Amino acid sequence: MPTTWTQLSWQYPIIQAPMAGSQGSALALAVCQAGGMGSLPGAMLSPEALSAELKVLHEQAGSPWNVNFFCHTPPQPDEAAQARWLDTLQDFYKEAGIDPSGIPAGPGRVPFSHAVADVVEPFAPPVVSFHFGLPAPDLLARVKGWGSLVMSSATTVDEARWLQAHGADAIIAQGLEAGGHRGLFLSGDLSKQLGTFALLPQVVAAVNVPVIAAGGIADAAGVRAAMALGASAVQVGTAYLCCPEASTSAVHRAALLSTESHHTELTTLFSGRPARGIVNRLMRTMGPRHPAAPAFPTATAAVAPLRAHFEAQGLGDCSPLWAGQNTSGCRAVSAAEITRSLAQGFSRSSEPTP
Ligand SMILES: Cc1cc2nc3c(=O)[nH]c(=O)nc-3n(C[C@H](O)[C@H](O)[C@H](O)COP(=O)(O)O)c2cc1C
Repeated sequence: MPTTWTQLSWQYPIIQAPMAGSQGSALALAVCQAGGMGSLPGAMLSPEALSAELKVLHEQAGSPWNVNFFCHTPPQPDEAAQARWLDTLQDFYKEAGIDPSGIPAGPGRVPFSHAVADVVEPFAPPVVSFHFGLPAPDLLARVKGWGSLVMSSATTVDEARWLQAHGADAIIAQGLEAGGHRGLFLSGDLSKQLGTFALLPQVVAAVNVPVIAAGGIADAAGVRAAMALGASAVQVGTAYLCCPEASTSAVHRAALLSTESHHTELTTLFSGRPARGIVNRLMRTMGPRHPAAPAFPTATAAVAPLRAHFEAQGLGDCSPLWAGQNTSGCRAVSAAEITRSLAQGFSRSSEPTP
């Protein structure tokens, strides 16, 4: 069991980003078997599904792997906010012929907890990563106690310093280009969010733990640039979304491979927290960050039936089409092929000769 970053026995310091809702162990396993580090997103899995997925990686990965959780504080139930949100979406419900009165205010995503840790502990994953900060000190101590290395995302230099001070073993510098949820947790002010190549060198200078570059890295040149700016590894999400091993929906894949993917925005409509996705009809109609969207993760349940309705017609009008700003690396090829092409960024022979 590795206890330090340098003991990780991987061929390439490439982490396939955990992507809740778009992949399970199949993608993670393929990346591990290609010499990188695969990640399993745990935030949306039942305890039974989580256990089954962990078992696959524990038995077959053969390379360090990572399981990822969110560590937000769930909001108190707020019926008035839920009613306002349903009311705001009423034109879409009318068009889809959906009666919103039957829509439950489901939680959507659960944070890491001792109950979740009970499921994870028997597998003692080599790495456990978190989004939205770190879990409470007793829970973090439990994870470190069974031998996992702990990583978490920082979207500002202040967050990176906070994560180091609170026990992170490595820090993911998540630039503003990144697809999916912003990992922000100290400030919700989006004007404080930095692009990858502004954030990365400043985080490297501010902390003394390994820093992983994330956001907009889609090819070998991006890997090389991140390493030149001091990264110890890269974390890549969007470029893996069209691999056959991912569970990305058909409408999402089509959008990623089309020119639609050239326009992404940070939106709160699908969960309540800012996340980057391809601009679609819901975002255009409501504005990407509507004030009526309730607190994370409670916005999700109201949009879910609309998403299902339109996806059944082959439309992504109300789907969270998570994507980073650089979708040029999305290809319908195996995760091993994507990993190998990213790994060219570490090869000396690919450097230009002087
Ligand atoms: C579809 C999708 C889902 C994501 N879900 C998660 C998640 O569950 N947990 C997490 O820590 N990060 C998540 N992220 C963010 C990634 O960890 C990472 O920061 C991002 O993919 C890097 O930028 P890139 O997409 O430009 O490669 C997600 C990203 C995408 C694209």
